[in-house]
Amino acid sequence: MPSVEVLRVTGGRRLSGEVRLSGAKNSVLKLMAATLLAPGTSVISNVPEILDVEIMGELLRRLGCEVAHNPEKATVTITVPERPDHRADYDLVRRMRASICVLGPLVSRVGAADVALPGGDNIGSRGLDMHVDGLRRMGADVTSEHGYLLAHSPGRLVGAETWLDFPSVGATETILMAAVLAEGTTVIDNAAREPEIVDICEMLQAMGARIDGVGTSTLTIEGVEALQPVSHATVPDRIVAGTWAVAAAITQGDITVRDARADHLSIALEKLGTAGAQVDILDDGFRVRMDRRPAAVDIVTLPYPGFPTDLQPQFIALNSVAEGAALVTENLFEARFRFVQELARLGAEVRTDGHHALVRGRSALSGAPVEATDIRAGAGLVLAGLVAEGTTTVYGVGHIDRGYAGFVPALRSIGADVVREEVSEA
Ligand code: EPU
Repeated sequence: MPSVEVLRVTGGRRLSGEVRLSGAKNSVLKLMAATLLAPGTSVISNVPEILDVEIMGELLRRLGCEVAHNPEKATVTITVPERPDHRADYDLVRRMRASICVLGPLVSRVGAADVALPGGDNIGSRGLDMHVDGLRRMGADVTSEHGYLLAHSPGRLVGAETWLDFPSVGATETILMAAVLAEGTTVIDNAAREPEIVDICEMLQAMGARIDGVGTSTLTIEGVEALQPVSHATVPDRIVAGTWAVAAAITQGDITVRDARADHLSIALEKLGTAGAQVDILDDGFRVRMDRRPAAVDIVTLPYPGFPTDLQPQFIALNSVAEGAALVTENLFEARFRFVQELARLGAEVRTDGHHALVRGRSALSGAPVEATDIRAGAGLVLAGLVAEGTTTVYGVGHIDRGYAGFVPALRSIGADVVREEVSEA
């Protein structure tokens, strides 16, 4: 009988102790793709131990790169050939949507990119129109055929003025990576400002790119003819950091998060303060303590520096056991409330209407089998399981593993009763 992995979380333990962060999933994959922009050997450090890093490594290998991952040193060394291949196949793209981030570097470096279309996923339809529009403005010919996005540029791309309808993280990255090698100036107005965008800008600058306005909504890029390989450390994962912060608050515990950037998490930490937690900012991270039942907190997800959508499920979990009611508004991904149905299996009282969810706090949840539908839903369900009476069995562990390196050992080290088990699939 085929078996699947589950997490068995037995609730009721107060978590207390220290955890250390590694680099951000949502940065490292783009940094790896950005190495395509320069022939030679680049080294990325502070790399998290997650499956997506392996998938991106495999994608780069198929493009002709040599990729060596050293988990002990948390580095990935990538040697990029003079002329990489330009096709990203569906078998990899379907496993990792972020594969699309090779689009920009390939068009600007080799004049062509054939990238399988990722399609929708569990959190929504996730369009690519702004990526395509940006590349077209720079002179690329972009079509879609047989499930592939085909982008070609007979000569060098040409800098252009672009204005994003919405500060999309992915579109900002695609246009940025195309623009650094284009001829002339590109302006990206209404650009995303996430710390992961700043991270990639800093890496590109160290490679020789000329970018102004880093960290603001207007990026101005002066194209250069060639870039050099680089050594660059990945920015710490603010979403993993925020997940630990909620773990402290929901279990009425005391967690210190090291190697973190508290300034990348200001709104979320402030919300925890409103919920009744004591938050101390440290030189290398922060500490969150909670000594009572949390108070409900309203949340509105927005592009950075607004409240991150990737922490929304974790805060719904917190609100589900809080005192009072909270209104949670999701503005980025239409299907992110899917996990609410799973949370309801634990007894949470949540009503959704379009992109709003009304969460009425319960004094207790009760453990049950649940299914993680995406990475952050998985984190939210584990957090809820930590305070539910009895045992919560979380299916869909593969989703959690994609975003949370060493999650189970770290949880156990601070007192959680969590085990990973194989169970047979009925
Ligand atoms: N959108 C379009 N057209 C586009 C681009 C985006 O309609 O051309 C829409 C999307 O459909 C979505 C919204 O704009 O509704 C936001 O998309 P964005 O491009 O900002 O997000 P992304 O680049 O696809 C990254 C992270 C997400 C994170 C978002 C927002 C990676 C690999 N993914 O996605 O992370 O939620 O930014 O911060 O960087 C996660 O880690 O769990 C995760 C989903």
